Amino acid sequence: MSLLYQREPFRTATGDCLRPGGVELTAHGLEACGFRTGQRVVDLGCGPGVTLALLRERGFRPVGLDASPSMLEEAARRVSACLTAGTLERLPFRDACMDGIVCECVLSLSEAPERALAEMRRVLRPGGRVLLTDILLREGPGRRGRGCARGAVPPAVLAERLERRGLAVTLYEDHSRRLAELAGRLLFQGVARSELMAWLGRCPEGACSGTRLGYGLFVAEKV
Ligand SMILES: C[S@@+](CC[C@H](N)C(=O)[O-])C[C@H]1O[C@@H](n2cnc3c(N)ncnc32)[C@H](O)[C@@H]1O
Repeated sequence: MSLLYQREPFRTATGDCLRPGGVELTAHGLEACGFRTGQRVVDLGCGPGVTLALLRERGFRPVGLDASPSMLEEAARRVSACLTAGTLERLPFRDACMDGIVCECVLSLSEAPERALAEMRRVLRPGGRVLLTDILLREGPGRRGRGCARGAVPPAVLAERLERRGLAVTLYEDHSRRLAELAGRLLFQGVARSELMAWLGRCPEGACSGTRLGYGLFVAEKV
């Protein structure tokens, strides 16, 4: 089964921003991070490179990493950036070489999120910041299987994971409205509700009624 962001109706609904909130939410998060011109900022799970283009436009030095060669090819056509194939859980970068990290709608896809957070901390310089946006679990049991929300956890759990890895949370914002807007656009385009639910992941016992997903933004600093 392909994941939600790999499906054509998703591309039509989001353009090439494969996440809720689009460029507007990223721009807002970057403001909160306060990165300075010329700083090296890596986008982990950069997809087709829309955020890399924004980083370049803002005067940062963008670096993109993705596990998918086809995503990296798209990113290369969009933006001049240093692009690397690799995974979140084993970053091919030196210790403390990055001023900033962006990771949007990717951590919840990871089979080893704790390992991924440890890697983020390793490659960040002291005082460097992470902008993390992701699907979160607001209520009820989590999703199973291969869907996009398989790794969604409550905001408090993600905050605790960040803190435990030496990434001090300086900002958390709930942007669940943006996930609802994206779901609405997909339904409006004719995607069946059952299909949308399947793309997000299997529900325990097949009953999704008690589960509420959301979307959140974290900024955290390496201490
Ligand atoms: C939902 S898309 C988000 C893409 C991009 N961050 C954006 O917001 O438009 C998830 C991206 O993460 C990549 N990805 C998924 N798991 C990954 C992993 N463990 N390591 C690196 N990249 C991963 C996928 O190839 C895909 O490009």
